[in-house]
Amino acid sequence: MKVLAIETSCDETAAAVVEGGGTNSFVRVLSDEVVSSLPLHVQTKGIVPEVAAREQLKSIIPIIDETIKKAGVELDDIDGIVVTRGPGLIGSLLIGVETAKTLSKTINKPLLPVNHLMAHLFSNWIGKENDLPSFPALGMIVSGGHTDIVYFESINKYSWIGGTRDDAAGECFDKCARILLDAPYPGGPAISEASKKIGGKKMEKILPRPMIHDKSLEMSFSGLKTAVLNETKKSNLDKNRKNVLAFDLQRAIVEVLISKLSLALDKNEVKSILVGGGVVANDYFRKHLKLLEKKRDIPVFIPEIKYCSDNAAMVGATAVVLNTKELDVNQFFADPSLRL
Ligand code: KG4
Ligand code: ZN
Repeated sequence: MKVLAIETSCDETAAAVVEGGGTNSFVRVLSDEVVSSLPLHVQTKGIVPEVAAREQLKSIIPIIDETIKKAGVELDDIDGIVVTRGPGLIGSLLIGVETAKTLSKTINKPLLPVNHLMAHLFSNWIGKENDLPSFPALGMIVSGGHTDIVYFESINKYSWIGGTRDDAAGECFDKCARILLDAPYPGGPAISEASKKIGGKKMEKILPRPMIHDKSLEMSFSGLKTAVLNETKKSNLDKNRKNVLAFDLQRAIVEVLISKLSLALDKNEVKSILVGGGVVANDYFRKHLKLLEKKRDIPVFIPEIKYCSDNAAMVGATAVVLNTKELDVNQFFADPSLRL
C-alpha cells in the first residue's frame, strides 16, 4: 500500500509518500517534505494562525508536487490520500483537508482521515523493519498542545487513561522560554540549549514538580509558568541563573513525565511503550526514557528526531498501520478540537 499524506495542523505544510504492508507493518518513507512559516512568527513570538494559513495556501501544491517527484511515483500509483483531520488550527487544517478532498475526487483515490495525535505515536512504525511494538502497549503523546497517556489493548483498540489538566508540556517549554530567555516559538530547543550550559553539575531543585506525588495519571504544567515568572523577579537574574532555571525547568517537566509513565506502567501490564510529539526531540527526556526502558525492562519506542515534530510521514504511516477506512468526501470535515 502506497499513500500520499498531507499534514497542515499548525505552522507547517508537509507532504510525504510512504508505503507499507498494512496492519502493524513497518513503513518505508519514499519522500518527505516540510516547510514551515515559523520565521514569519518570530516577531510575534508565537504563531499567528491567519499568517500560517496564508503561507500554507501558497505552499501546499508545490510541496505535493515536489513530494511526488522525489518519491519517483505517478499519482496513479497511489492507493490513497491521507490527511490530518485534526486537532489543530482551523484555517491550517482546512487547507490540507480541502486539498486532499479535491485531489481524492480528481484522481479518484480513497480519502483516508487521520488524527494528528495518533500520528505522533505511529511515527514509531517508520523504518523499523525488524523492531515493531507489541501489544498491549502504553502511548505517551507530548507535544505543543497535548500531553496524554493512552492504553492500547491492541493496535486499533485504545483508551485515554491520563493527561494534563491544563497546559501541555510543550506549551510550558514555550511559555517559559519566552519568560526566561525571550525566545520565540518553539521554546523547547532554547531551554534545552540553555540547560546544556549547566548540565552534569549537581543542582538543588528550585521549581515545583506539579502533581508528581499524586496517585492519578493527571498532570498539570501551568503552575510551572508562574513559578518561573516569580523566579525571574528575584534580583540575581544573570545569564548563569537563567541557565540554571532552564535546566531545572527541563528536569522538572521530564521528572513529571517519567514518573507518570512509571505510574501508568504500575497500573497496566504492557509489552511496549510508544512515545511521540515535539517534546520527544528533547535529549534529556530521551535519555530518561532509555533509563526507564532499562529499569522496567520494557522496550520504549522513540521516534527519530526528525519524526518527533510535525511531519506528513507519520500521518501516512498511521493510515497504513491502522488500515484506515475510506471516508466519503462529502461526510468529511476538518475538526480543530478532534479528540483521541
Ligand atoms: O508535535 P509538535 O511539533 O507540534 C504539536 O503538535 O504541538 O510539538 C511542538 C512542541 C513545542 O512546544 C516545542 O517547544 C516542543 O515541541 N519541542 C521541544 C523540543 N523541540 C520541540 N521541547 C523540548 N525540547 C526540545 N528539544
Ligand atoms: Zn504535533
